[in-house]
Amino acid sequence: MATKYEKLRHYPVKRMTFRNDSIIFLGLPLLLLLCFLSPASFSADYIPSTLDGPFVPVTVPLDTSLRGNAIDLPDTDPRVRRRVTGFEPEQISLTLSSDHDSIWVSWITGEFQIGKNVKPLDPTSIKSIVQFGTLRHSLNHEAKGHALVYSQLYPFDGLLNYTSGIIHHVRITGLKPSTVYYYRCGDPSRWATSKIHHFRTMPLSKPSSYPGRIAVVGDLGLTYNTTDTISHLIHNSPDLVLLIGDVSYANLYLTNGTSSDCYSCSFPETPIHETYQPRWDYWGRFMEDLTSKVPLMVIEGNHEIEVQAENKTFEAYSSRFAFPFKESGSSSPLYYSFNAGGIHFVMLGAYIAYDKSGKQYEWLKNDLAKVDRSVTPWLVATWHPPWYSTYTAHYREAECMKEAMEELLYSYGTDIVFNGHVHAYERSNRVYNYELDPCGPVYIVIGDGGNREKMAIEHADETGKCPEPLTTPDPVLGGGKFCASNFTASGEFCWDRQPDYSALRESSFGHGILEMKNDTWALWTWYRNQDSTSQVGDQIYIVREPDRCPSHNRLVNHC
Ligand SMILES: [Fe+2]
Repeated sequence: MATKYEKLRHYPVKRMTFRNDSIIFLGLPLLLLLCFLSPASFSADYIPSTLDGPFVPVTVPLDTSLRGNAIDLPDTDPRVRRRVTGFEPEQISLTLSSDHDSIWVSWITGEFQIGKNVKPLDPTSIKSIVQFGTLRHSLNHEAKGHALVYSQLYPFDGLLNYTSGIIHHVRITGLKPSTVYYYRCGDPSRWATSKIHHFRTMPLSKPSSYPGRIAVVGDLGLTYNTTDTISHLIHNSPDLVLLIGDVSYANLYLTNGTSSDCYSCSFPETPIHETYQPRWDYWGRFMEDLTSKVPLMVIEGNHEIEVQAENKTFEAYSSRFAFPFKESGSSSPLYYSFNAGGIHFVMLGAYIAYDKSGKQYEWLKNDLAKVDRSVTPWLVATWHPPWYSTYTAHYREAECMKEAMEELLYSYGTDIVFNGHVHAYERSNRVYNYELDPCGPVYIVIGDGGNREKMAIEHADETGKCPEPLTTPDPVLGGGKFCASNFTASGEFCWDRQPDYSALRESSFGHGILEMKNDTWALWTWYRNQDSTSQVGDQIYIVREPDRCPSHNRLVNHC
């Protein structure tokens, strides 16, 4: 088997640059020489592509002027206050179903309760109806759905219980592709309907049609940095939003509303890891302007676990959002798939069993086998904790998941992987099993949405920053099992410099925009939050090479 360094000889690393003021690895004479040798590669307008790679690793120095310590919006902020009365819908959101012809509309009616004794509302007391059509003044179609409430119960002295408003989910079907639809939701018989909103359906699934812009964001929370991120994201007019886990951060709060940037540091004595569920309602209200117009696809992160009485988990996540999990053959909202134009998205669950004998793995194997790359050429996978991150925070934490699933995703030619969890930005070279591989996915860590837990700044390859290996497994993720092996040339757990698989890393908040240009070229742009102004921090064409990297004949010892 070829070693990493033998492979490198056949897949030479190259140098790339994006912002002249922030590159630290090249001396000026060498830069001038390279410019002379390859002027096109370094012209101001040139956007590099993965065909130019793999690239020499780049670390963009920390911009200390950035606001690294985010502060949550208080419950007095008008953007998180209830703006409706009675049973009028609020927190309206859209979710794609498995294809262009159907979409989920979700909303909440009635008020949540929090206290010692709470009495759940009756979800059958109000109807779940969406009226829709292609003309604003003629909403001549109607779809009905279902409603539910969930409770977050903490049967301990001094803790408060929560029960939600009535959460409605309606799937509307028979939609035409790339078409604007107008809708209102609610219960017309109770005079409790929303104002009219609109959305555009996804294009047909074929190699020549794609959503215009797909926004990708992770670890959002609800801070003043989150509001910058979402404002920049809306400014980029996305057609679809992917949220790669860690949503409201309600679990940084006690049930009495007291909060901290670090729950375990501040509240070590609580009988259970409490949450303050109204933060979810605040988040839904803040996001409604975006989510009532643009479909939002969420996959769970560790902050969605939210253990409560009887060891129930993921209640808020599973209840508040719709997921196309049944449509995609999954038995759980914790993993599912969908198409958007010529892209097949696979959303994987890191906090549910992922081993090769489990349901999720079986589902993934079947789902990938069904993908027709002549219809959806692009295969994009997401899950929360990254496999390829070089920051000290969560370093190699998801190694058991990587060990279980990497070969399968590689064998089907996954093009791009998005992860969150690490609160910073990083883009990898094409990589498979820690070795540079021209047919491996590009891994992008985008857990920089702006939540209050602060940015990740330290790198595991810096002196003294490599974590003790046995401290790295997460207790929930893989049950705390240690799966990592040493892998550097000298047999160490961490590299002594930025690893070859890391192309670019920067500690900053932000979001990304993915634009498929055709069946082989996609433009990826990462926008930093530079205070109130959004700046491009990374831009690259990700290029598929189906002739070089066929997607169905790379199974290695895989059954
Ligand atoms: Fe996380």
